[in-house]
Amino acid sequence: MREVLAGDKLDQYDLTELLARSGMASIFKAIDRRSGSMVALKVPHMQFESDVAFFERFRREEQIGQKLVHPNIVRVLSPETKSRIYLVMEYAEGKSLRAVMAERRKFSAEEAIGIAKQICGALVYLHGQGVVHRDLKPDNVLLGPDGQIKLLDFGIAMDEAARRLTWFGLSAPMGTPDYMAPEQVRGKRGDVRTDIYALGTMLYEMVTGELPFPEANAHAMMRAKVNQDPRPPHEVKADIDPKLEEIILRAIDRSPRERYASAKEMLADLDDPSKVEPRDRSGDRPRPLLERLRIPRGVVAPVVLTIVIGTLLALTWLMGNAAGRRRPTVPLPASAQAPGRGR
Ligand SMILES: Nc1ncnc2c1ncn2[C@@H]1O[C@H](COP(=O)(O)OP(=O)(O)O)[C@@H](O)[C@H]1O
Ligand SMILES: [Mg+2]
Repeated sequence: MREVLAGDKLDQYDLTELLARSGMASIFKAIDRRSGSMVALKVPHMQFESDVAFFERFRREEQIGQKLVHPNIVRVLSPETKSRIYLVMEYAEGKSLRAVMAERRKFSAEEAIGIAKQICGALVYLHGQGVVHRDLKPDNVLLGPDGQIKLLDFGIAMDEAARRLTWFGLSAPMGTPDYMAPEQVRGKRGDVRTDIYALGTMLYEMVTGELPFPEANAHAMMRAKVNQDPRPPHEVKADIDPKLEEIILRAIDRSPRERYASAKEMLADLDDPSKVEPRDRSGDRPRPLLERLRIPRGVVAPVVLTIVIGTLLALTWLMGNAAGRRRPTVPLPASAQAPGRGR
């Protein structure tokens, strides 16, 4: 067996074009000779053919995909025979949201809400099926020429019913942490609120053109996600509608308990933002003093140490002086000497 290439035939499919190539797989556009319809094939790279954990993950992606039927989720098909491991999907025309963001950077509030509503609708369905996507990000959202979105890539999705069987071996590289919820950063597997967090982050990015945590490197960003509140959208886009800002902040709250509890709740707000009551967050959860004073954490230890040592030195010096005053070094006059001494 060798790597498949565009132009190859694979079972009933003629591979016509390479659509994408990731660390795990190549995705081809193909024609199904039996039906004449256009499909997409996700073919894992050769090195994974004998990897048991990967095989299990891929099989789960296929099983989860096959049970999902929704206009905003890419259909996974079930061909009768396959001579190697690959996934067959309906071919979804369009570009990934990542590609569209790279071209446009920002969307109008209406466009962003329109896209978020479709994703949120897909999440309502998905969560109703007991599935959490866990890897929502602009690369895994396709935007069609008619404006319809389709979610794809259920590679690390979790089927709640199969949780215990499938959790093992899932620490595979997770890609960008930009859309990852703080609890995922902490190593938790996440639940429906993890998907809500990712959707909120995408909405933030579509509206402001920036991410809620602008830290330059992945580690700093992950630390900030766990320890700090996100930068409010109005700090990036001053004229954002406070109601839209509230929806975003409710979706990306650091604490899952403070987030929308379900995609249904979030969808209701996206459908009618006018009903959303912006919450005063200033007194909610006071930000740590260091954060408010903008003092970097690394500076604290040396400063405290210097203060402690300085205080100790000062005390020692003061005590030395006081003792010195009690014990004068000049000889006492003879009259003051104790009687009998020196005799
Ligand atoms: N069914 C499809 N129709 C059209 N393009 C697709 C389809 N599936 C995947 N792609 C393209 O391939 C890219 C990678 O697919 P994805 O399933 O996310 O793979 P990976 O698990 O390697 O990230 C997507 O961003 C999209 O551009
Ligand atoms: Mg992907």
